[in-house]
Amino acid sequence: MFIYAHRGASAMAPENTILAFETAISQKADGIEFDVFQHQNEFILIHDRWLHRTTNGIGHIESLLLEQIRLLDAGSGQSVPTLYEALKCIGHQCQINIEMKGIKDIPLLLNYVNNACQQFSIPADNILYSSFDHHLLKAIKCIKPNARIGALTASKPIDYAAFAEVLEAEYINADVTFVDKNFVYDAKSRGLKMGVYTVDQPEDLLRLQSWGVDAVFCNNPLNAKLALSEG
Ligand code: G3P
Ligand code: CA
Repeated sequence: MFIYAHRGASAMAPENTILAFETAISQKADGIEFDVFQHQNEFILIHDRWLHRTTNGIGHIESLLLEQIRLLDAGSGQSVPTLYEALKCIGHQCQINIEMKGIKDIPLLLNYVNNACQQFSIPADNILYSSFDHHLLKAIKCIKPNARIGALTASKPIDYAAFAEVLEAEYINADVTFVDKNFVYDAKSRGLKMGVYTVDQPEDLLRLQSWGVDAVFCNNPLNAKLALSEG
């Protein structure tokens, strides 16, 4: 089962920071997931639209200039990274899951990622675009049909994985609190891969693995790998 470091190794370092990504790489995570917001023509890594939970700033992202956001402390003296800095740090060392939280301009994002991938020798196939906003995923597929897509869901749909099939997603990524064996079976029988977030308990990891889940998003990749190897 593939281990994504959720917001980087966020149990060990502040989430969505370069330190969290370096830690995930040192823990040999198979991939790193992070959250991206658009700020005018730049892309920054942060989970919430509001700044107060993860930085020493207040208000929402749009209320500050980019230079002001970049001066904030995102924990342990880390700054809020740009997407460019994140891609530079991770490079081709592991897979990358870009979760689009607040994105307005898909062509700009694709162009930005494409340029960074060329500059840092990141194979295009190392990138998976995911979102709860399925319109964004559809827009990506329209422009870049071979883009790898992860369709996120925060609920258990009546038709299970049908929406991800319509989107031609590679992955359906669902919350550990409601994923059951039937959901996994339905996704896999449609040819989809199943990802589950956020999984840190050994018993959950082992159960999901026994159901054939393809990937999990973990705050502590090192512990997850240990639990799976000992299970
Ligand atoms: O991509 C999986 C997971 O990160 C989605 O939920 O809230 O942690 O971004 P959240
Ligand atoms: Ca996320």
